Amino acid sequence: MQKLEQMYEGKAKKVFKTEDPDIVIVDYKDDATAFNGEKKGTIVGKGVINNRMTNYIFQILEKEGVPTHFVEELSDRETAVKKVDIVPLEVIVRNVAAGSFSKRLGIEEGTSLIAPTLEFSYKDDDLGDPLINDYMAIAIGASTREEINKITEYTFKVNEVLKKFFKEAGIELIDFKIEFGRYHGEVILADEISPDTCRLWDIETHEKLDKDRFRRDMGNVEGAYQEVFRRIGIK
Ligand code: C5P
Repeated sequence: MQKLEQMYEGKAKKVFKTEDPDIVIVDYKDDATAFNGEKKGTIVGKGVINNRMTNYIFQILEKEGVPTHFVEELSDRETAVKKVDIVPLEVIVRNVAAGSFSKRLGIEEGTSLIAPTLEFSYKDDDLGDPLINDYMAIAIGASTREEINKITEYTFKVNEVLKKFFKEAGIELIDFKIEFGRYHGEVILADEISPDTCRLWDIETHEKLDKDRFRRDMGNVEGAYQEVFRRIGIK
């Protein structure tokens, strides 16, 4: 697969064209941002971990019946993926209260939730990705009822698969964000699943092993990413 001109550069990835109009190459960077780009930094080795971890998890999800954009891992940082139109919604699931949920509802971080939640944020950097509900997303044309029903079904399946996957590595899945894309009329899982997009706590000690270490200046950010990678045992 040949890497042609760059199409796009985001906060954590670059995307390149290929000779196939249906396939693009994603190149994961070590750049880290938080708070809608206000905080910037580098997490050395993050691009490799996020690329390899996402690909590993996406292949498991495919086997479990969740279609994804994954095509082929090309190198430590580069992956060929199906070219999708991203649905402009961040889809967030929470198993335990943390982050913006704890703040908004006044519930202490670490409080287990009776059932998993599902939230949508409208992807718009200028607006700071505001929280919206399904009716609002449909009303503004960001998605359709059929698409949201499919996204909801896939998202709860992803939660079940990921909770089990991380538990086997001694990690509790607190919450996560995923994104979907449209590919030839179907909705498929896109973007990434990594310590950038999940809250991952050690099951015993509750030590944070995710991007909150960067957001909150807790130190040992690289070590936490490496620890997750080591525990899930990707060869
Ligand atoms: O900040 P908040 O508590 O809403 O984040 C919920 C989950 O979504 C966290 O796992 C966080 O890492 C992820 N997230 C993300 N990208 C964003 C916002 C949240 O990956 N832009």
